Amino acid sequence: MSFAGCSLLSLKEVSLREVAALFSLAKKIKINFEENDYFFSSNVLNHLKGKVVANAFFEPSSRTMMSFQMACQRIQLPYINLPSRKDSSLVKGETLVDTVMNLKALRPDLLVIRFNHSIELSEYLQTLDCPVINAGSGITGHPTQALLDVFTMLEHFPSLAGQKILFVGDVAHSRVAVSNLEILRLFEVEIGFCCPEFMKPSGEMWDSLNYFSDLAKGLEWATVCMGLRVQVERHQAVEKFDPRAYAQNYCINLEKIKSLRSEALIMHPGPFVRDLDFSHEVLSDSRCVIEEQVTNGVYVRAALLASRLCSDQMLLDEEVIGKKV
Ligand code: CP
Repeated sequence: MSFAGCSLLSLKEVSLREVAALFSLAKKIKINFEENDYFFSSNVLNHLKGKVVANAFFEPSSRTMMSFQMACQRIQLPYINLPSRKDSSLVKGETLVDTVMNLKALRPDLLVIRFNHSIELSEYLQTLDCPVINAGSGITGHPTQALLDVFTMLEHFPSLAGQKILFVGDVAHSRVAVSNLEILRLFEVEIGFCCPEFMKPSGEMWDSLNYFSDLAKGLEWATVCMGLRVQVERHQAVEKFDPRAYAQNYCINLEKIKSLRSEALIMHPGPFVRDLDFSHEVLSDSRCVIEEQVTNGVYVRAALLASRLCSDQMLLDEEVIGKKV
């Protein structure tokens, strides 16, 4: 099977074989970089030099945007960035779809896009004749984040079978949780979530999962604690949200993680708001792998970009050859 030319808009239909192939390439890149200071050998790099990626981030981003840019830099893949909203023609009244139509007309080889999910734009993206990677779409998905999350989990556990993944925080508004559920269906994990009543997600995919209103009980159960940011900007009824009461019950801090087992992982996709959804002291806990998530994001995204722009044979040769340029 080939990824070349394929979009990644969600993880709903991804197979275990596809995920394993992508992770194998990301692992290869990681080993190449850590041992030899390069991501790919000359064949792949020469091929990628002739391509151009267009990055269009219509919603704010630090990690994801820089991670894609870093991945492009490391694999010598040229890219262009759409200016921020205030510096683009969006301020003149151009729509998102028209902006993307113009980007497409520049004939990039791949489009990376973050946007506040709209049915019109989502449908339009499916018609494009260049591959599109979803870098976060409103509350509907963040596939590359979920890929790097699972890649990181797999580095710490021999297998995900039997692991208990707990999402803590604003689950109802989390695109990261949606995409994680989409990919974790491929592994024999148990999934739970912990949040106040008004942050409970709706929909059948959540109905059969373990719900904890009490964080201590959730943390006792979990082998992975995945914190999620409170997405105040997406709340419809802001008045329901009391930051002090929320932090008291749901902020992941040193006191709360006492009930988490010693071999568990503490994760967060970022950004986190200190002392609201995550206490910075937890960063120093030996179980916390947040920095590893960010680092792995570059390897996983580089693998994803290359898999869309190179033939399988070229990447297969890379696995065997792996010579420095
Ligand atoms: N995790 C994540 O998507 O972070 P950014 O919003 O900073 O890209």
